[in-house]
Amino acid sequence: MELFETIHGRVTVGKVKPDPLPRSVIEKLLSAGAQAPNHHKARPWRFVVLTGDGRKKLGDVFAASFLDRNPAAPPEAGDKPRSLPLRAPVVIAAGVDKPAPGTKIIEIENVSAASAAAQNILLAAHALGLGAIWRTGEWARDPKVKEFLGFAPDQHIVGFIYVGYPEVAPESYTRIGFEDRVTWIE
Ligand SMILES: Cc1cc2nc3c(=O)[nH]c(=O)nc-3n(C[C@H](O)[C@H](O)[C@H](O)COP(=O)(O)O)c2cc1C
Repeated sequence: MELFETIHGRVTVGKVKPDPLPRSVIEKLLSAGAQAPNHHKARPWRFVVLTGDGRKKLGDVFAASFLDRNPAAPPEAGDKPRSLPLRAPVVIAAGVDKPAPGTKIIEIENVSAASAAAQNILLAAHALGLGAIWRTGEWARDPKVKEFLGFAPDQHIVGFIYVGYPEVAPESYTRIGFEDRVTWIE
């Protein structure tokens, strides 16, 4: 697929089939992510790939955290959060390294680089005929979720990329242009 076709044709696909993806395909996505620009060669993205029962473990953490934060809720209120990671066969959590003290590395630049990696993954998924959605929500800021994924409480998660084979062929649409978002200084 030609680059501009990929960029313009990519759309968020929230509904995908449960069929697992071959590991080689997941690795292609991660490799695309790792091509993102980053300052000081920091490579600050940290991907955690959840498949199979790994997604169930994440769902259990979502549920436990939800119930902890909502002590008045009945146990069955945890069912919805528990099911969330099962919406796709592969969930890629994209975390960000904290800059080590005393280095030139700046947190916003690491977050920017990890976000560029996430977009590369979305574009690669689209180019491979997969469907993907970048999700955040309360879970991306949840200390229990971070702990489960191996992140420190002050590390950012830029998103969870849910990816799989699309249920139906996604339809691209024309987005609002750039014209109202640009200032030209000549
Ligand atoms: C940082 C970020 C966080 C997002 N979080 C969510 C989310 O939690 N839930 C969701 O449904 N979509 C989420 N999205 C996806 C957007 O809703 C989606 O990109 C938007 O609807 C535009 O659709 P498009 O990707 O087809 O252009 C997120 C996107 C970004 C960039």
